[in-house]
Amino acid sequence: MAEQKLVNLKINDRDVQVPAGTLVIEATKQIATEVPSFCYYPGLSLQAACRMCLVEVEKMPKLQTACTLVATEGMVVRTDTTQIKQARKGVLEFLLTNHPLDCPVCDKGGECELQDMVFRYGADSSRFVEEKIHRPEEKWSEIVYYDAPRCILCFRCVRVCDEGMDVKALGVGMRGANSVIIPNCEDHLECEECGMCIDICPVGALTSGTYRYKTRPWEMEYVPTTCAHCSNGCKTTLSVRNHEIIRANNRDLGGINGDFLCVKGRFGFDFTKHPERIKQPMVRKGDKLFPVSWEEAAQTAAAKLKEIHAKHGGDAIGFIGSNRTSNEDSFLFQKLARETFGSANIDHHRTADYTGLMTALAENARDSLLTMDQLYKSKAVLLIGNDPTNQNPLVAWQIRTGVRHHGLKLFIINSKEIKLKRQAAKFVRVPEGQEAAAVRWLHNEAPLGPDLVEQLMQLKAQLDAASDVAIVFGSEISGGAIADLVGFGSRLQGKVRYMALGDYANSRGAADMGVLPDHGPGYSHAAKAGLTAPQMVEAAQQGQLKALYVMGANPLAHYGTLGYGRGKAELLIVHELFMTETAKQADVVFPASSAYEKDGTVTNTSGEVQRLQRAAEVMGPRTDFDLLRILSHQLEKQGLGKAFHYKNPAAVFEEIRKTVPGYDVELSVLLAGAAEEAHIPVRRNGKPYDVPVGLIRSANDTLFTSGTLSKFLTTIESVPEAQAKS
Ligand code: SF4
Ligand code: SF4
Ligand code: SF4
Ligand code: FES
Repeated sequence: MAEQKLVNLKINDRDVQVPAGTLVIEATKQIATEVPSFCYYPGLSLQAACRMCLVEVEKMPKLQTACTLVATEGMVVRTDTTQIKQARKGVLEFLLTNHPLDCPVCDKGGECELQDMVFRYGADSSRFVEEKIHRPEEKWSEIVYYDAPRCILCFRCVRVCDEGMDVKALGVGMRGANSVIIPNCEDHLECEECGMCIDICPVGALTSGTYRYKTRPWEMEYVPTTCAHCSNGCKTTLSVRNHEIIRANNRDLGGINGDFLCVKGRFGFDFTKHPERIKQPMVRKGDKLFPVSWEEAAQTAAAKLKEIHAKHGGDAIGFIGSNRTSNEDSFLFQKLARETFGSANIDHHRTADYTGLMTALAENARDSLLTMDQLYKSKAVLLIGNDPTNQNPLVAWQIRTGVRHHGLKLFIINSKEIKLKRQAAKFVRVPEGQEAAAVRWLHNEAPLGPDLVEQLMQLKAQLDAASDVAIVFGSEISGGAIADLVGFGSRLQGKVRYMALGDYANSRGAADMGVLPDHGPGYSHAAKAGLTAPQMVEAAQQGQLKALYVMGANPLAHYGTLGYGRGKAELLIVHELFMTETAKQADVVFPASSAYEKDGTVTNTSGEVQRLQRAAEVMGPRTDFDLLRILSHQLEKQGLGKAFHYKNPAAVFEEIRKTVPGYDVELSVLLAGAAEEAHIPVRRNGKPYDVPVGLIRSANDTLFTSGTLSKFLTTIESVPEAQAKS
């Protein structure tokens, strides 16, 4: 790699060395010197609109904007002279021309950049005597409100929507002192409702429909945790008051996602307090479920499980786990199935074939899997299947940002015209379901239609010329097709890394923890292979399986030839947040806590292990960890298996560290969003591997849906785009 050229300059009499091309505003950070700014925002295009960042540069006649000035060899910069202070004061006086001075009742009070700047540099009086221009506040959507007089026209919102989101829903209307930000549909927005514009607004001009005027920032606690929705694992900071989540953002920019959150990460937390949450355990008596005490529910579940186990053996019981529960929950769940009951029937709804990827990479897995940061830094990305804009929004953000910042080349093979096509250097449209055939052609030129072959030849030629390629694929590529893909990748130049795209917050963790019929924790081979999730539902419906134990999943809505029915199953036990199709048919229902109500860890689709931290508290539900522990004690009392004696999820993680390759990391050094602590499990025992067609299935969520949680996301459901797209 070519060595980066460095330049030397002096800032406030201190020597500073920075890479050539660095802006002076960034160079000042090296000596912890603040240059105030409004319109400058790292990662977005330069605007030079606010003039707040003025600095003095020797031999330059006028003050310069540090946000557009590139540091050069020998430059001498001052950031704190009397002239600069006077200039900043003047800029602030000007910005306040029309700005209302009602900070005590402004929604942004306490966390407003303008308020902070005026406090530090501003005037205590104004020379303006003219009446301020007033405009009424506008509601652009259920989520976004705009208050023009507060707007300081920094255009951060316009740029983040255009450059960052590639939505381009915001623009500038009118001129001069009358300039305002305008939405794309006259008086309202039609957009992805991500809230990035609200988040990036330095003042109280853009406010959030869910948060505005509910509380003051200093009245809340801030809990960093991991988003509960898709598999990308964005860090989100939940603002909590009286045990209730009021807001989600990531203003500290920590974590694998910087300040990015999609609509679900930012507004999809209100399911926690939805009135339909299950709050009490229930037991079936006749054809109805009745609320009972925890003791009665646990005793009933344990007694019935024990009875079936004694009569028919462990393999008469099926265990369907979750791609949302924590690693600790999943680890205990497979332990219960395998060790307590001796059942091989354990699986979950698989949305990506992580086993296939680990198998294909075998011992190379540790350094061939792609993290979110590496995805951004890649020189080229080959994206096969999936629609990241909808299904994996952070992945889409990383790709778009890579294209914008350093010319990342994107190549796409897809059966649909996905939005990322706009960034693609080459887009190959294949017929529905033909992504794997295209991969086979790339690998060994297996027969394919001539038109497609020509397209793929062009794509291959461009990829051959690239180096450091990231290969990202959805559920369309599984089993043997992943082996073909890795075979093809191994012939490309430079470092080639892979990412399989799953659907939910712990899709990857469920596989790593061994919630699989053929593999235990860390993809170790299970002693005997059990039934897959669809096979279990089918077997239960037909009476071959006597009992189903379901934790945080809704298999009766997804699988089974007999429709939603439980058929001849004698026993159905469910841990759930809401009365799903499966919970409605259960014999015992345990109310469970969501990811925002528990401690533990989750693993995102790129193998980055992150913390879950309890933010909200809802009376009634217990964590899956607690439920499994309670049940194991009841089972032990009834003479089956050993009770789980883990004090807390951290104790389970200690066992995971010893059992699952790649997870041996101190819990205390893992933070929510700590990408650098990513640890990647490696499959230890490579054998030929394939999966039946259709077993790996994406739920095809949109930006506005999140599996069974979708209809309980009240805010998200309220935006018209959610109705249009679901
Ligand atoms: S909510 Fe997101 S998509 Fe909509 S205008 Fe704001 S930044 Fe753009
Ligand atoms: S609405 Fe906020 S982010 Fe947008 S231009 Fe105005 S002050 Fe800047
Ligand atoms: S991209 Fe996924 S993980 Fe990130 S905020 Fe959106 S739903 Fe959550
Ligand atoms: S921050 Fe430099 S001009 Fe606005």
